[in-house]
Amino acid sequence: MAKHDLDSNYLDPDYEPVVNHSGNSAFQDVLAARMQRRTLMKGGVGAALASIMGFGIAGCGSDSDSDDRSNGGNGSAGPGEGSATELGFAAIPVSSANKVVVPVGYSTKAFLPWGTPITGSYPAFRADASNSGADQEQQVGMHHDGLHFFPIDFKTGGNSSDEGLLVMNHEYINQAALHPDGPTYNANGMRPADEVRKEVAAHGVSVVHIKKDSTGDWDIVFGSPFNRRVTGNTEMDIRGPLRGYQKLSTRFSKNGTQTRGTLNNCSMGPTPWGTYLAAEENWHGYFANSSQTKPREQTRHGVGGASRYDWELAEGGDDQYVRFNITPTAQSAEDDYRNEANTYGYMVEIDPFTPESKPQKRTALGRFGHEGVIFAPVEEGKPVVCYSGDDSRFEYIYKFVSSRPYYAATASGYLLDEGTLYVARYNEDGSGDWLPLSLDDAGFAASVEAAQGSLVGNVQFDGFENQADVLLNTRLAADIAGATPMDRPEWGAVDPNTGEVYFTLTNNSRRTEEQVNAANPRAENRTGHIIRWREGGDDFAATEFQWDIFVFAGEQGTETVVDGDVAVSLTDDNIFNSPDGLWFDYNGRLWIQTDGSDAPPYQNNMMLAANPETRDIRRFFVGPQGCEVTGVVTTPDVKTMFVNIQHPARDWPFGNEGDHPRDATVIVVRDDKGVIGA
Ligand code: FEO
Ligand code: CA
Ligand code: CA
Repeated sequence: MAKHDLDSNYLDPDYEPVVNHSGNSAFQDVLAARMQRRTLMKGGVGAALASIMGFGIAGCGSDSDSDDRSNGGNGSAGPGEGSATELGFAAIPVSSANKVVVPVGYSTKAFLPWGTPITGSYPAFRADASNSGADQEQQVGMHHDGLHFFPIDFKTGGNSSDEGLLVMNHEYINQAALHPDGPTYNANGMRPADEVRKEVAAHGVSVVHIKKDSTGDWDIVFGSPFNRRVTGNTEMDIRGPLRGYQKLSTRFSKNGTQTRGTLNNCSMGPTPWGTYLAAEENWHGYFANSSQTKPREQTRHGVGGASRYDWELAEGGDDQYVRFNITPTAQSAEDDYRNEANTYGYMVEIDPFTPESKPQKRTALGRFGHEGVIFAPVEEGKPVVCYSGDDSRFEYIYKFVSSRPYYAATASGYLLDEGTLYVARYNEDGSGDWLPLSLDDAGFAASVEAAQGSLVGNVQFDGFENQADVLLNTRLAADIAGATPMDRPEWGAVDPNTGEVYFTLTNNSRRTEEQVNAANPRAENRTGHIIRWREGGDDFAATEFQWDIFVFAGEQGTETVVDGDVAVSLTDDNIFNSPDGLWFDYNGRLWIQTDGSDAPPYQNNMMLAANPETRDIRRFFVGPQGCEVTGVVTTPDVKTMFVNIQHPARDWPFGNEGDHPRDATVIVVRDDKGVIGA
């Protein structure tokens, strides 16, 4: 493979390993369900047909006058030009071109490509990828994913659409493109330390102060104190129930209160108080444990004997790289890094408005393969509620409800340190239950007791020593609680008009006929679907909900059937597969991004817009070859859209012969300066 090609792992549609062996069904009568579904399926032309259980959810129509700040813009940004969620553009066709395509009347521009200098001495990007590790620490990282625009005047109640902090994740790296000649090893099998330094620095999060100039173009504010890089080596605090737990003790932090770095930051979530939570998704791959037997907090995540990038093999034995070898080597955990991976798998809070602040790992939200987090709109005096999916095959969807109430005047990350973590069970009849993962809950405690001494998946279960142990082993706790195994939950989004919660379920080709359930009704689900629910009594803290499936992705003719009627039948205007990124803009249009292969009939990955009320879905944006389209946000006026392109192929975005591909943020505007999507 050419040196600039994508890591072949990521072209493998089966890349996500199966690490849930618990075989949860959560349904008492799968056979009955299958019979019922058969009666609802419609014949078709080779398309993956689908249907849903027979109930609908009331559409849009509730009040939209809240003044919540949960989406980062003050005052919900208000309707841009009318509150309607209708789509006002003509769908574009699929594309296999090595460029971004948008509808007539829209323009795009690549912004903040990998390597753009943003801090310190602003080292210029070198096209041959010869920048050093120290340079990379001052430049935008690689593999852009989730992002958010914080209006610069957020803290003073403002709502600027002309200046703000653009904060984005850098999920992983293309080693081949990061270095002039790809990754190298010395004769002794070790890796050059500066290559490793550069790779660690290309991960993490970028905070970039941006501003519109007099012509309407967006620029970096050079020298701004807000410009910042958080990397795989930045010092962080552990917060919440796992802070100080002995299973987080390492040589770096013997008392288990600190760690270094955040990695594999996929999606994210802006908090109602103006901070940014970066998710840690496939963190397990960064660690190597060559022991024959590994603890359950590693096996349930697939930690192996070798690491993805061999950072633990960095020459020189620097402690910051040695820590990726989590094989026990010393007498006690305080003298080695056997517990280092236990400091990963969290949502990490970064305060972009306080550049000197230390990132905080919020452990009360659970430890798993966090894709991202989405906050429900907040209300004074009510708990803070947020949702997070665990993107791996047959994993779960979680909800956190804070113990303490939200008050705008005092709200901060401490609200995320105490509360109840729930996991979702989607019942056959369209109802759902939030199952508490708390030893204080009698039902959960009884399930734990019952499971004692038995095999849960591939884990011989011998109990939880305390609530910190429950959260360290969130997946195992959810297995025991009886959660519904899903088809790889990716992003979530809350409809600002109705309060309905949507989640993408990207695909799961490994699901067998015996493993289907109502919420994941397709065996060998290669194209994915989008599920949604309404909380009981429209109370986000409720423990019951009603769910349905918004749309099944697939080829032309793929149907989503509601109450016996075809609600959606996909056409050339909207065939898509593997939904991943998902975001409601401030007017209530739903943006759906894809992460499939480039194969026909879908071609390159794309972004579609949906009217959640009518399920009108139209293709709005197609990315260049080889990429996934991931991460979307707009300014509060919904007139500038930022879309991330991750792992593009070849010479995108600048098209110069021999260029290394560069992940970048695409700025989308309407030529008439109108509202995007309207
Ligand atoms: Fe990093 Fe689940 O996408
Ligand atoms: Ca994703
Ligand atoms: Ca994905």
